[in-house]
Amino acid sequence: MKAGTPELLVITGVRAVDPARELDAELDLVVEGGAIVRLGPAAATEEIRRSERARVIDGRGLLLLPAFVDLHAHLREPGHEYKEDIRSGLAAAAAGGFAHVCAMPNTRPVNDSRAVTEALVAKAHELGGPVLHPIGAITVGQRGAELTEMADLKDAGVVAVSDDGRCVTSSAVMRRALEYARTFDLPVIQHAEDHALTEGAQMHEGAVSTRMGLRGWPRVAEDIIVARDTLLAECTGARYHVAHVSSRGAVRILRDAKARGVAVTAEVTPHHLTLTDAMVVGYNTACKVNPPLREQGDVDALREALADGTIDAIATDHAPHSTLEKDCEFAEASPGMIGLELVLPMLLDLVRRGALPLARVVTALSTAPAKVISIDAPSLHEGKRAELCLVDPEAPFVVDPARLRSKSRNTPLLGKTLTGRVQLVMAGGRIVFDEVKANGR
Ligand code: NCD
Ligand code: ZN
Repeated sequence: MKAGTPELLVITGVRAVDPARELDAELDLVVEGGAIVRLGPAAATEEIRRSERARVIDGRGLLLLPAFVDLHAHLREPGHEYKEDIRSGLAAAAAGGFAHVCAMPNTRPVNDSRAVTEALVAKAHELGGPVLHPIGAITVGQRGAELTEMADLKDAGVVAVSDDGRCVTSSAVMRRALEYARTFDLPVIQHAEDHALTEGAQMHEGAVSTRMGLRGWPRVAEDIIVARDTLLAECTGARYHVAHVSSRGAVRILRDAKARGVAVTAEVTPHHLTLTDAMVVGYNTACKVNPPLREQGDVDALREALADGTIDAIATDHAPHSTLEKDCEFAEASPGMIGLELVLPMLLDLVRRGALPLARVVTALSTAPAKVISIDAPSLHEGKRAELCLVDPEAPFVVDPARLRSKSRNTPLLGKTLTGRVQLVMAGGRIVFDEVKANGR
């Protein structure tokens, strides 16, 4: 990943979009020594363009965006490196446009300790790609009972706590977790699923599950937890974040909570914004995911909630699994799909269809998630370290198994052609992904 980063990088005539500074204009960008030194119309003077040190990219027809921040990825290290590891996961993240990636703790061992957190941070740092931000477990072993040493975890580098993959079902444990996390100003990220209502569930509970004879995961199992937790967040004053919101009921509860001023935030995945339970017909295990793909009414509610800010961020829930866990009977298959390399073309499709404004998508992929974990958000600003993403919004993107950086291929979009390609990504002032030349610019 430590690819050659030129001393002087110049992108001319590019459409730069950074809603955080109300920027949407055609301009030139000059990056020198890893920092944005000039940004504006005609910023790339003849002298700069002709400089021997300069690499000049013709940005006409391209989009320049702040690089993305993912609040929710499963990088599988330690323990399941055959599905993904830090190196492959961060390479996939770089290819997707990300400068920052949060790693969920449901590894083996679970990241419930300083030792695991430190190992993750050190390994990612050595790779020099996108920054990895570990998320620590809420409870020891994610078993839902004893709280982790959050002071230690925070000190070692975690940016949030979550038992993702499992819900913290006990109200008493959740209350204590919120109170404890609050003292360290750590957000508590809940995987909202009342397991008593979803035992044995294979997909969304509705007409399709009935027809297919599969046990369903009702929306209300999510709604109940989100309702309870927002009440707990209100009475504890803690920062509460809902992972992968999938149901229209949860959207309504979040909207009410936010209107009352409760400190809640939420994320939605690209697949819940675009796919429905109808995709499961044919027992396609690539479409088995937790929470499950729901109905068009939910998809519409999620889009509306993202548009109006009820849902703050887009997070991939990149959940790689090998053919071992997916080429099997539906009931045996592990839930999850990959997302790091697909999120941008999936979202650009919604923008093209008028379902979401581009500015909102950019905010939901950069500024909003950065705020949840209290990191300095990537932005297109003179003087800032370069954390940016150059995109060709019209270029075809074939979801080719041979070209994906992730070790896993579990996506229902495999073989499909999407529109919109990431061309170049800078993270921490370095180029971490570069396909500009390969695409003839
Ligand atoms: C995730 C995984 O595989 O770790 N699976 C999934 O379907 N999303 C766990 C999770 O985020 O719930
Ligand atoms: Zn989850």
